[in-house]
Amino acid sequence: MTGWLVAYSDPSRNLGTGLANLMGAPTIEVQSKVFPDGEGCIRIQGDLYGNKVLLVHSMYPDPDKRLMEFLLMSHKLSEEGAEVYGIVPYLAYARQHRVHNEGEVVSLGVVGHLLRSVGTKRLVTLDIHNVEGLGLIPIPCYSVSALPSLAEYLKKKYDLHEPLCISPDLGGSTRAEAFSKILRADTLSLDKHRDKSSGEVVVDKKDLDVKDRDVVIVDDIIATGGTIQKAVSLLKDGCCNRVIAVCTHSLLIGDALKKLESVGITEVIGTNSVPNPMAKVDILPILYSHIKTLG
Ligand code: R5P
Repeated sequence: MTGWLVAYSDPSRNLGTGLANLMGAPTIEVQSKVFPDGEGCIRIQGDLYGNKVLLVHSMYPDPDKRLMEFLLMSHKLSEEGAEVYGIVPYLAYARQHRVHNEGEVVSLGVVGHLLRSVGTKRLVTLDIHNVEGLGLIPIPCYSVSALPSLAEYLKKKYDLHEPLCISPDLGGSTRAEAFSKILRADTLSLDKHRDKSSGEVVVDKKDLDVKDRDVVIVDDIIATGGTIQKAVSLLKDGCCNRVIAVCTHSLLIGDALKKLESVGITEVIGTNSVPNPMAKVDILPILYSHIKTLG
């Protein structure tokens, strides 16, 4: 693709250089340093006027720091006369798209307004937590899905026995249904709620019948692993066969993987949307196919 440049900062180096290679586009050097007090400093040089720039920047790990870096980079690029397209596979604050508890900030809306204020013209993200969140971002934005690629990987690797695709909560049911259509499998959602007295997250389901079936849990994010751990325990109690978890963003915080192994998960299949040891599916081809439509 001609007329495009690609900028990225260090944690997204692989995604940035990979996308630049696919597009045959030059990269822009972004220098980044941190002052002793913890403030970041970004430097971008070169003649950028009139160029379209893909700013490739997943906002994890350290979401607040990554968000600030994105804002500084986008500001500088647009100040120099470039048109900035944010390619942000993991969008920080996407889970805060509504008020869960009285008094909370709808943080995704704040992020959206910040992106616009620093001249980001368009945003492309990956499997946003809830598509309603896109409506909070006041610039054109689109969420690409890694689910078809995750399903292809799974189909090639496993000969599944009576497969059942499960969402660990009602909020993820559309995702699990979409996945089950690709696999031609059944689907259902578990019930996830917070126990009022203990405050603990509980995952359950009445009349769950999973005996001897291979179960695929589909989620957008595995963070602490707590949700999937509880779902796997419930499914194992129901005497299912294998349980495989597929997710787009495997943050795998702390001992998340150990937790999942301890309850007997067969495999975790994630993407390279953020750096992680379970990145088995490459998101670059999906991002590239979408970017080609941007002209
Ligand atoms: C929640 O609605 C999300 O879809 C994930 O299920 C959740 O973020 C996973 O978090 P954790 O791994 O910490 O349970």
